[in-house]
Amino acid sequence: MTETIPSTGRPTPPRRPLPLLGHGGNRSALTCRYRCGDACFHDVPNTSRGETFGDVVAAGISRRNLLKVGAVVAAAGAVGVLGQQPAAAHGGRGSARGLAFTPVAPNTADAVTTPPGYVSEAFLRWGDPLFSDAPAFDPSAQTAAAQQRQFGYNNDHLDMFDLGRGQFAMVVNHEYTDEPMMFPAYDPEAPTAEQVEIAWAAHGLTVVVVEERRGRGRGSGALSVVVDHPLNRRLHTTSEFALTGPVAGHELVRTSADPDGRTVLGTLNNCAGGITPWNTWLTAEENFNQYFAGADAVTDPVTRERLRRYGLPGGSTDRRWEQFDQRFDLAAEPNEVNRFGWIVEVDPMDPSSTPKKRTALGRFKHEAAYPRVTRDGRVALYMGDDERFDYFYKFVSRDRVSRRDSDHNGTLLDNGTLYVARFTGDSPPEEILGDGALPADGEWDGSGEWIPLVTSDDRRGHVSHVPGMTAEEVLLFTRQAGDAVGATKMDRPEDVEPSPRTGTVYIALTNNTARGTGANPGPDEANPRTANKHGHVVELVEQRRDSGAGAFAWRIFLLCGDPADPSTYFAGYDKSQVSPISCPDNLTFDDHGNLWISTDGNALGTNDGLFGVATDGRYRGQVKQFLTVPHGAETCGPLVQDKRVLVCVQHPGELDGASFENPLSHWPDGGTSIPRPSVVAAWHERGRRIGDA
Ligand code: FEO
Ligand code: CA
Ligand code: CA
Repeated sequence: MTETIPSTGRPTPPRRPLPLLGHGGNRSALTCRYRCGDACFHDVPNTSRGETFGDVVAAGISRRNLLKVGAVVAAAGAVGVLGQQPAAAHGGRGSARGLAFTPVAPNTADAVTTPPGYVSEAFLRWGDPLFSDAPAFDPSAQTAAAQQRQFGYNNDHLDMFDLGRGQFAMVVNHEYTDEPMMFPAYDPEAPTAEQVEIAWAAHGLTVVVVEERRGRGRGSGALSVVVDHPLNRRLHTTSEFALTGPVAGHELVRTSADPDGRTVLGTLNNCAGGITPWNTWLTAEENFNQYFAGADAVTDPVTRERLRRYGLPGGSTDRRWEQFDQRFDLAAEPNEVNRFGWIVEVDPMDPSSTPKKRTALGRFKHEAAYPRVTRDGRVALYMGDDERFDYFYKFVSRDRVSRRDSDHNGTLLDNGTLYVARFTGDSPPEEILGDGALPADGEWDGSGEWIPLVTSDDRRGHVSHVPGMTAEEVLLFTRQAGDAVGATKMDRPEDVEPSPRTGTVYIALTNNTARGTGANPGPDEANPRTANKHGHVVELVEQRRDSGAGAFAWRIFLLCGDPADPSTYFAGYDKSQVSPISCPDNLTFDDHGNLWISTDGNALGTNDGLFGVATDGRYRGQVKQFLTVPHGAETCGPLVQDKRVLVCVQHPGELDGASFENPLSHWPDGGTSIPRPSVVAAWHERGRRIGDA
């Protein structure tokens, strides 16, 4: 019998079998399917030719000017734009300030493991009530109504707004759901309406107030949820979001439910994010493509190519949402997909505010967005597109940040210029062998240009800088704009974080096992390893250290992996004195200026973790593992406070063969329980500052 999609009556295409082998890092087939829609099992979506002289001219930048920019950066590099040369191989005694702890050894425990002297606690778990009218978590009796008032699934990005008196408004993304692990007797071929609606409610965002422990536990790093706090809020797949900026109201975002093209229900697959200088929360819609069925029903060649470039799968989706709401079926609602893939701005201090999808920031698989203020007071926002061979971006606002006028700041992300990065190496290409051997000049480094794609301006009109594309098309199909101007194809740009001390921007490139394989691009100086299994971290320094600059210098900080692997590099630090690290993902800085890196998909076969590393001084490059998360989990959302480290433990027990009936982790509840994604706080048992000797 031919199965049909109820909303459309069309035959359901055959379901793809679950892949047998993981990829890239050490992900399970479950992770690949439910998080990314098997992104790495599909063809690489970026089949563009890459940079050419013609493309550069097409971008509206003359070769002469480009050479000038390159010369300036190269000259600046010679006098030390990047600060210091790599550390000479220091011995391993001592640690940078703030990193004095005994590193956690790699392990496969079903637990959060911290250094000796530290303790940790999962203080907010999937299903915990945020409001007193929500029932206590009972996975065998879960309802959508309950889930809308409880903490969602698969917490990823986390940040805090200090409310004073030991209270914080904590903001958390719920990236995706693992249905086979969430629901008893889950049938992926025939999910029930209740299961789908629970999944809609388990996606999205949480704002929740937490406070330092009073009474017993006072003075520790422990945190408790303030149930029913007026700022507590859940936003999910049926909550209202506004489209703002040039694309709002455009014909390509109008749907039958929203003929004005300005109001979207839901935010999907929110990965990492950032906090603006005016204290709002930015959250990034990442693998939105996997929620939309029916790409193969589209016949228009231009639309087909746009869908292909964004990795829209043909046929039915893995979660089958299209059977319950036809907006997830491209055949019925061709424009709904264009309303996802944006950076969303949320005001956590106003629980009645409508979050904004900021279209001037472009549409791609947004991993994160991190701001810096330019010398003249505007905001620059750094953003990565997490896909193999995709690009790194920057947006610079037209207007300056105001200290007082929040209404004015609420318009900053609607007007400005979106750029894409091109990285140029300074070593001869023949010296980049793909095996991690340093080029003759002793660095993977070079210069870079910010290539303008589009200027959004509600006063003077929006201007495309890409011939053949309108401003709105550049914003909707930003990947194709990046292709047209010859942006550099990177190894999955994930989180980005500028150092608050030096302004140097750190970019995590998580991995790309397709680099240099088959017809795919080979290694280049910014992505120097073939079949890059363990990922790397790049440092970017803007010209004159101004985030508004059009050019930058860059160099590689870490090539991750087992330090015994000759292809690894730890900024020149003694490799016998560093922790193994694989698949860098989310980044944060502590108050000492140390970079903290969480990992996703550790390809060394042990659990993911959180690592601290000094970026300056004699310990630059000394990577130290601070914690590990339970088996099958990824470490997300790190935040390092003076006396507390916070992480989101995402998808514990997400291992091949795992299901509700067969849980492969019992963290955090223990016994025979199913695993629950949770937020963890860790602190020193004697109340010392983190990393104090
Ligand atoms: Fe959701 Fe790119 O990690
Ligand atoms: Ca070089
Ligand atoms: Ca991530």
